[in-house]
Amino acid sequence: MCGIVGYIGKADAATVLINGLRRLEYRGYDSAGVAILDDDRVLVSKSPGKVAKLSDKAHADWDAALFHRASTGIAHTRWATHGPPTEVNAHPHLDQSGDIALVHNGIIENYRALRARLEGKGHHFYSETDTEVLAHLIGDCDKGDLFQAVCDALHQVNGTFGIAVLSAQEPDKIITARRGSPIVIGMGDGETIIASDASAIVAHTQRVIYLDDNDIAIVTADSVDIRDLNNIPVTREIAELGLDSAAAEKGGYEHFMLKEIHEQPDSLGNAIRGRLDFDIGSSVLAGMGTSPRELAELSRVVLIGCGTSLHAGLVGEYAFEDLADIHAEVQQAAEFRYRNPILGSRDLVVAISQSGETADTLAAVREANQKGAFVMSLCNVVGSTIARETGRGVYLHAGPEISVASTKAFTCQVAVLLMMALKLGRGRRFSREDGYKLAREIEAIPELVAKVILQNDKIAKIAADYSKNEHAFFIGRGPMYPVALEGALKLKEISYIHAEGYHAAELKHGPIALLEKGTPIIALAVDIPGKDKTLGNIEECRARGARILGIVTEGDHETAECMDDFISIPRCHPLVATIPAVVALQLFAYHVARLRGCEIDQPRNLAKSVTVE
Ligand code: F6R
Repeated sequence: MCGIVGYIGKADAATVLINGLRRLEYRGYDSAGVAILDDDRVLVSKSPGKVAKLSDKAHADWDAALFHRASTGIAHTRWATHGPPTEVNAHPHLDQSGDIALVHNGIIENYRALRARLEGKGHHFYSETDTEVLAHLIGDCDKGDLFQAVCDALHQVNGTFGIAVLSAQEPDKIITARRGSPIVIGMGDGETIIASDASAIVAHTQRVIYLDDNDIAIVTADSVDIRDLNNIPVTREIAELGLDSAAAEKGGYEHFMLKEIHEQPDSLGNAIRGRLDFDIGSSVLAGMGTSPRELAELSRVVLIGCGTSLHAGLVGEYAFEDLADIHAEVQQAAEFRYRNPILGSRDLVVAISQSGETADTLAAVREANQKGAFVMSLCNVVGSTIARETGRGVYLHAGPEISVASTKAFTCQVAVLLMMALKLGRGRRFSREDGYKLAREIEAIPELVAKVILQNDKIAKIAADYSKNEHAFFIGRGPMYPVALEGALKLKEISYIHAEGYHAAELKHGPIALLEKGTPIIALAVDIPGKDKTLGNIEECRARGARILGIVTEGDHETAECMDDFISIPRCHPLVATIPAVVALQLFAYHVARLRGCEIDQPRNLAKSVTVE
């Protein structure tokens, strides 16, 4: 969603900031802006649309000398919430005096009341945003000390924020603060970079500090002073990013999504490596921080997440019940805290989130902690809020996922969930021998995925025949049911084809009414228990004129012959098979979207990290 970059140092701030915004483009946004400090004034340039357009606008607004002169500034990409994506609604916003500029991620819930009060004092607002109200509030509180003014203003707001503020009156600092919206501070050599996401920092330094909720920092070119909102100093550790800036480049692929699909043998290798113990037929997941006794005492696993991460949780549900003999259920994170979930100390809650910043998943984590459950996370972004607030869990090590459509994170989430289920299973009914066999199957996942990727050209050809349709149905049973849901989500979000995932048996309870000649049915007909029933469901669809694309097991010729088109995946354990099967569907969705000329890495209306409810 929205992105923040702030810079104070010796380099040309406008260039650093615009480059930083480019690194945040993947998060999804619809307008952008930048503010720089030039002598005793704040200069702002904003534009609806892409960062490239902002760059042109800023070069037009400021002459070359001015553009390159400032060494302090803040910038923003906005994903519209309050008011449409226009130039006037874009950030940075100024206070009444025009001396203070603010960029803000999050939502100020009581902005209407604050705005009315400030209007009563003579303030004039230009935009429809909650952020402009906060900028004015800070200005209204400013009695010559910007830090204190920001503290005083933040005490008056309800809602969430990640902010960066600068003032022409105090040009040697930027103030930044967070509540519910991430802020990372990169400490370079004579320069400091503030960002909502480490990818805007990685080109400058590996040394970072993650702010906690209600932290506020005074940032200069060579210092970071962190306090709480009552001005009490707090200490935060300096962490190493461990990110390679090349990982955030396309590396010769046409799109990040295609690159990330192709990376999966490596990312899965990284997620699995060193985490299997063949001697004991189990997995070693130190981050879970649990003793065998604690695991044995658990009575239930509750998996929570949103979107693709929720679908990974659904595969996990099958894995925990089947392998670990423990009651497992999946709950949609957005609903979790509102339904007053019944939880206790013998419940393991696993929060699944690629970004580790999804607002609903974070709120669910807090609810689960409140209720005394045993909470852990499965995140990709190291140091993300969910990872830090759970304090225990397993990182995916999938590397940065830039494309909005999640691919490698999903497969790594499933691989890690399988390893978690294996570990729990070994404390229960799973024998050493069974554990050993499954560990070998998990070890082979990268190879299985590489075999699917080799079919890229064949999948591209098949996709051509399906790219003209406006509707599609994905069906599956057992662990292939969540794969059907995920396949449908991938197709709809990047190609804008209306796609639905259903349990194969559900079609005849209503959706079958929509089938007509040529309607695509993408059937997960992999050779696992339940396949014969799925084949029956396929026949029901064929009888109504549907065109069937099957995902089948290599060598299962009989099943392949039932399909109009098929993609095969290697034979493997039914739970493991979810991973190569989904990779086939990722490639299918990618090629359909490409043929339809869609903006694959940044689909319309979507954001990479959903930090609002
Ligand atoms: C779909 C997609 C989203 C995310 C969802 C949760 O391709 O990427 O559905 O899976 O927004 O995001 P995380 O995993 O970051 O919590």
